[in-house]
Amino acid sequence: MINDTVSDCLKQLNWQHLTAWLSKRLSEKRTSHCLGVQQKATELATRMGLPDWQVVQAGLAGLLHDCAKEMPVPDLQEAVNTYGVSVSTEDLLHIQTLHAFVGAAIAEKELNIDDPVVLDAMRYHTTGRPEMSVVEKIVFIADKIEENTRDPQLTKEISRLIHPEDIQSLDSALMALYTRTVAYLTLRGFGIHPRTQAAITALETQTHSPQSHSHCLQ
Ligand SMILES: [Fe+2]
Ligand SMILES: [Fe+2]
Repeated sequence: MINDTVSDCLKQLNWQHLTAWLSKRLSEKRTSHCLGVQQKATELATRMGLPDWQVVQAGLAGLLHDCAKEMPVPDLQEAVNTYGVSVSTEDLLHIQTLHAFVGAAIAEKELNIDDPVVLDAMRYHTTGRPEMSVVEKIVFIADKIEENTRDPQLTKEISRLIHPEDIQSLDSALMALYTRTVAYLTLRGFGIHPRTQAAITALETQTHSPQSHSHCLQ
């Protein structure tokens, strides 16, 4: 059973070591943010009634998601080449998305994390994408509403949309967060990443589809 294997591997994680590794890469404030995302992602996964191994996947991706966030842009661009990170032309243009992909590559190379669910949740925490796994959705949301550094009012508003063991309610939270992001970017004249737009379109289509009750639980 692949899930048993994943579960065994994830149980062997040394959280103290991971946190120490992270805090060497990041400022105190960013480390606090990452710990907040770990906590919120773990909480959301638990509230959704996910199995233990998915709770750990969410917490791990939450903890590590911004591990490359404080690398200077030239270093990020160099890391894309060094690690052979697969990114699109749009990712290279929307420079703020690079830390997500480079972070996943660093976690893979330096920490030997090879769980694709964890790595994808790290890769897509900035833009999201259509057909996100439940762990990806949770990490995306937790990144915006963790309680150490984010706006408590936003946390309250978004948390109200999320209901226990109702995985579809995560989509309402995602939509609310995307609406705010688009408003923010539009106001400042920034372009919207095509992957973000695709994720929004997929959510809208799903909301209006009669089969909107199907969920990806991977
Ligand atoms: Fe990030
Ligand atoms: Fe973050």
